[in-house]
Amino acid sequence: MKIDRRKFLLGSTVFGIGVTGVGVYSNSLNATNSKTKLPIPKLLDTKVLEKININIINATHEFFPGIKSNTKGFDASYLGPTIRLYKGGESELRFTNHLNEKTTIHGHGLHVDGKWDGGPQNVIQAKESLTYKYNIIQQASTNWYHPHLMGKTAEQVHAGLAGFILIEDENSLSLGLPNTYGVDDIPLAIQDRTFLNGVMTPYKVTMEQIMDGLKEETFIVNGAIAPFQYVPAGWIRLRLLNGSNARYQRFSLSNGDSFVKIATEGGFLSKPIALSSLEMGPGERNEILINMAETDINTMLVESVEGDGNIFTQLFNEPQIALELRVDSSKVAINSIPKILNNIEHYDPYDVAITRNFELQMGGDGGNEGENMSSNPHAMFSINGNPMDMKVINHTGKTNQLELWRIRSEEMRHPFHMHGTSFLILSQNGKPPKIEDRGWKDTVDINEGVVEVLLKFNVISTKEYPFMYHCHILEHEDAGMMGQFTVSK
Ligand code: C2O
Ligand code: CU
Ligand code: CU
Repeated sequence: MKIDRRKFLLGSTVFGIGVTGVGVYSNSLNATNSKTKLPIPKLLDTKVLEKININIINATHEFFPGIKSNTKGFDASYLGPTIRLYKGGESELRFTNHLNEKTTIHGHGLHVDGKWDGGPQNVIQAKESLTYKYNIIQQASTNWYHPHLMGKTAEQVHAGLAGFILIEDENSLSLGLPNTYGVDDIPLAIQDRTFLNGVMTPYKVTMEQIMDGLKEETFIVNGAIAPFQYVPAGWIRLRLLNGSNARYQRFSLSNGDSFVKIATEGGFLSKPIALSSLEMGPGERNEILINMAETDINTMLVESVEGDGNIFTQLFNEPQIALELRVDSSKVAINSIPKILNNIEHYDPYDVAITRNFELQMGGDGGNEGENMSSNPHAMFSINGNPMDMKVINHTGKTNQLELWRIRSEEMRHPFHMHGTSFLILSQNGKPPKIEDRGWKDTVDINEGVVEVLLKFNVISTKEYPFMYHCHILEHEDAGMMGQFTVSK
């Protein structure tokens, strides 16, 4: 077996300073000493399993060998199984809550009726079960699931409650892309945590950390620190999930080589786009391909993006190893990739029937940012002056009607996410979106400016189980930067 070692790195830059990191750190980051194998979440495939039962449990997890941290997981000590669904399929997922607290399980990215969306109203009481029915009408995409309990999302996700939901369709299965789960098609949930003597620091935030979002110093990938993975000597597909509470992440190969982006959150791009780096805000997913037959690829970095850093965390912003890729030439390799991936029918802005404006603000008093900062931690942020109130429906929409959502943030960067559908970006700070962002998305970076997105709904939500829109910095979400809407026929 010929073994060659390449790496995929994680890191972060100091806020406000354009540290490229790559040249500076590549030598130390080339060292091949990882002893931890990349944990690959168990696959639950709905082709094989008609019903899926998942237990939400308290657990202990070894981020460092032999050192236990208190965590939560889905039938696992950290994170949970990957659920594979198929377009046209109907599946039942039963979640049993063994915790001593309530929770909810939201399918982030799924186009399912509000009743099955797992928002803050879909509570699973302690020691009780809830069955969600997923009727899949959307295209192949990489999605995820996580708790969405009012005021508690950040803490429960931080403890380990997150997992992947992969949707496949005829197109995704016939393109010839790498799709052998855990071999050449690998889900990577990237998060950041603090460790004290190897023990994960439990969730606890100061007012400043609610303001900035909780940004911690050690990146973890599928619950492991700088793990390695054997991969074939051909094209490999990495499904990246920024599962951080608040950190923006930037990925790159340490030698500056390019890789290929093939999908945004809601599906494939029209064609593969070569990139030398990729930025992702919390909640975003991107699929990339790397050609492991290229001999000089060795490392990949992910750095925090400007605006992500803050004075409390800048000491911890060096690039870190995300994943060391070791080539095993005995594995079957995919040697070519398709030139066309998807047929995206862009909306015509002239057809817009309804326009909505969203102003993401600090403070809960109608936008007097900062000055009247609420001391109520659930109303430190607001949208259009209103902090999240479960009793208030902020918007009502209709299916099959083209909507333009204009989302604005004056002085902070927020990853804006909405439930129930996927959108296409129309403009970002007055410019058309970058070519690699011209795909279906459900989470978009609002970087001190205005983003316009176009969308339609194909599923409904009622007052009882409305859809959410919110900032995916989980501290901001829990601190009021969220609103609710219904969709009717
Ligand atoms: Cu990933 Cu409303 O959530
Ligand atoms: Cu969501
Ligand atoms: Cu935010």
